[in-house]
Amino acid sequence: MKEIKVKKKKKLYEGKAKIVYETENEELLIQEFKDDATAFDGKKKGKIKEKGAFNNQISGRLFTFLESYHVPTHFVSQFSANAMVIKRLEMIPVEVVMRNVATGSLVKRYGVKDGTELDHPIIEFYLKDDAKHDPMINEDHVIAFGHADADEIKLIKRYAQKINAVLQSFFFRRDMVLVDFKLEFGRGKSGKIKLGDEISPDTCRLWDVQSGEKLDKDRFRQDLGKVEEAYREVHRRVFS
Ligand SMILES: Nc1ncnc2c1ncn2[C@@H]1O[C@H](COP(=O)(O)OP(=O)(O)O)[C@@H](O)[C@H]1O
Ligand SMILES: [Mg+2]
Repeated sequence: MKEIKVKKKKKLYEGKAKIVYETENEELLIQEFKDDATAFDGKKKGKIKEKGAFNNQISGRLFTFLESYHVPTHFVSQFSANAMVIKRLEMIPVEVVMRNVATGSLVKRYGVKDGTELDHPIIEFYLKDDAKHDPMINEDHVIAFGHADADEIKLIKRYAQKINAVLQSFFFRRDMVLVDFKLEFGRGKSGKIKLGDEISPDTCRLWDVQSGEKLDKDRFRQDLGKVEEAYREVHRRVFS
């Protein structure tokens, strides 16, 4: 792996799960993963021991794997146990959700039976706006609000579908079903669309193939216990 030495400078942004810092290189940032956990629009708060390190390392591994399939990501290198060096992106404030199995809000909104395998993966867009509770939007909203143009959306959808196919088999080989996940994209220096943010048990639903046991943030959301153990187990499998 290429060694990129950068120094942590000014804090640029602190979100719910991560802190983003500037570096002495204008184009590079440091993304630090926190142990803080939030759910239900920030109404439920807690801490999960070592989550920051697990999510940082899992994300790094998955970004590297996706790059090998020619999916451009912001990942540059690991920086520390719980932080990575990333390329600065102009983020598109849209959360892209891919679903392979019906659960969560899909069940609530449409009444599909929980756990139903979807014949066709579903892609959804949500406006990333905490104050508005991240409302669901469609491609026309994204264009009309000026967040991305039609070509960018087409590319984002293509990347999301490819990421889904690649990660579904990656996780299945490690005895996990990739139920659904959330992605965030942005534009790099030359305007090129790249995958940003993170891919981790905070942003994916992962079910054990044999037992159906949940191995993701739903353990925290639903008070299922063994939360830290689930993150540790996903980390172990991702690096196996
Ligand atoms: N490569 C990047 N360049 C700039 N900002 C990024 C990049 N990747 C992710 N981000 C943004 O950094 C923030 C990460 O912190 P997080 O705790 O997830 O925040 P939030 O609570 O807003 O989701 C997010 O707002 C995310 O959109
Ligand atoms: Mg976030």
